Amino acid sequence: VPPGRNAEDAWEAAYRQFETPAQEARKFLRRLKKLGVASWSRDEGIVELFCGRGNGLHALEQLGFSRLFGLDRSAALLADYRGAARLVAGDCRTLPYANGSCGMAIVQGGLHHLSRLAEELEGTLMEVRRVLKKDGRLVVVEPWPTPFLLLVHALGRNPLARRISRKLDALASMVELEGETYRSWLRSSSLILNALEGSFRTEMRRFEWGKLLFVGRSPGDRSLRAA
Ligand SMILES: C[S@@+](CC[C@H](N)C(=O)[O-])C[C@H]1O[C@@H](n2cnc3c(N)ncnc32)[C@H](O)[C@@H]1O
Repeated sequence: VPPGRNAEDAWEAAYRQFETPAQEARKFLRRLKKLGVASWSRDEGIVELFCGRGNGLHALEQLGFSRLFGLDRSAALLADYRGAARLVAGDCRTLPYANGSCGMAIVQGGLHHLSRLAEELEGTLMEVRRVLKKDGRLVVVEPWPTPFLLLVHALGRNPLARRISRKLDALASMVELEGETYRSWLRSSSLILNALEGSFRTEMRRFEWGKLLFVGRSPGDRSLRAA
């Protein structure tokens, strides 16, 4: 697949086919509850990075959070969102938020899109630390090479299975389009865990159903750049 706008459009089309906004919002709600988010303070500002169409933000709204912000680089996906959060198009390595202004940052299925993984992950985590208050939480849900995920990928290489399941077909298309970026994510488990646990104090770390679930607390940042 050629890099550039066409590949991005094809990826966004597959992403929209993978699940409806309502299905995605329900999935995010289930996950947030599992992560314990429902019992956290409603007073904090929360930023969802890589927020796409904003269905994670809808789930947070349903849980009663109201000071919500979202950031994604795709203006087309952001335009689908209808809700109360303040959205901005931008890159996760330069966040337009003040130092220590957020109580929580959430990433659901975004970090595995970083193409120069080591460098961009480090840059993103540094920015998250900058905008989080001391003890603020980073919540991460990303694909993880558990046996379940490897089975799903194997099925996605089977043309018959792809014809039977529209969802599997969409997932397999996204995997193809994400190409080396995604494969490199799946190969880099130690690098990723070291980066997360080197920057945040681990509160939860689980691997299940093809996902990493991570919650970490910010130790605060002594080397903040000017906001
Ligand atoms: C799988 S989607 C995430 C779904 C999303 N969490 C949701 O709530 O719908 C990945 C998103 O990452 C965005 N993205 C990829 N690289 C980015 C970057 N460097 N900075 C900001 N957003 C990025 C894409 O535009 C896409 O919306």
